[in-house]
Amino acid sequence: MGKGKSFPEHVAIIMDGNGRWAQRRGLPRSAGHLAGAKNIPRVVKAAMEAGIKTLTVYAFSTENWKRPVDEVGFLMKLIPRFCANQLKAMLKNNIRLRTIGRTDDLPEFAKTALLDAIEKTKNNTAFTLNIALSYGGRAEITDAVNKILNDPNRPQGPLTEQDVAKYLYAPDLPDPDLMIRTSGEMRLSNFMLWELSYSEFFVTPTHWPDFNKDTLQEALDSYAGRNRRFGDVKA
Ligand code: FPP
Repeated sequence: MGKGKSFPEHVAIIMDGNGRWAQRRGLPRSAGHLAGAKNIPRVVKAAMEAGIKTLTVYAFSTENWKRPVDEVGFLMKLIPRFCANQLKAMLKNNIRLRTIGRTDDLPEFAKTALLDAIEKTKNNTAFTLNIALSYGGRAEITDAVNKILNDPNRPQGPLTEQDVAKYLYAPDLPDPDLMIRTSGEMRLSNFMLWELSYSEFFVTPTHWPDFNKDTLQEALDSYAGRNRRFGDVKA
């Protein structure tokens, strides 16, 4: 549903605050991650109903590998669980699943589940859920540079920004119009450094497991009032 320039086509979310959400309830961090994973389909539904076409969610960063082994293991196990629980709903609702990141670094069981869901949903067109896994913005740009160096068919002569962008993880997706960060921190945490250059930011104190259609609407209302100038002087 095209809603004009005051409506974002692609929204990116830094899903922060699972740990704090759990801590507040006297629960282990893993309970926060489980609640966070369960919240993704709810937010996808709200995003689809609102008219958003693509949602990118930051689920695991290149830096998150430094977390305690149990926590990393728990997050990895959530991946096949998410795929198994959501495949039917994604097929029914015409949702395409994709990933960005150094997904080769994920454990085999997670890769297998992802590849299966990606393949089975690849022709779906109503909505794209793009999950950033083992993702880093600097890693993405570094990987793009290495792909360029290794590509015998690379453009000759000085590269343009458009040339470089073609080697990013998802060159066919438009840049996010709006980036939402939950849990209040005012930082980018190595998320989509290239793609977020001209995106509008919305930070909410709400922890990710509590983020819902009302918080999404707040972000959309805020976005509708922005004057995107892309470095120019007028709207
Ligand atoms: C940040 O909260 C959240 C993460 C590092 C992981 C996000 C993961 C999910 C929402 C679930 C993953 C789902 C799939 C399908 C892979 P935090 O742990 O940094 O919270 P804190 O800052 O309050 O400690």
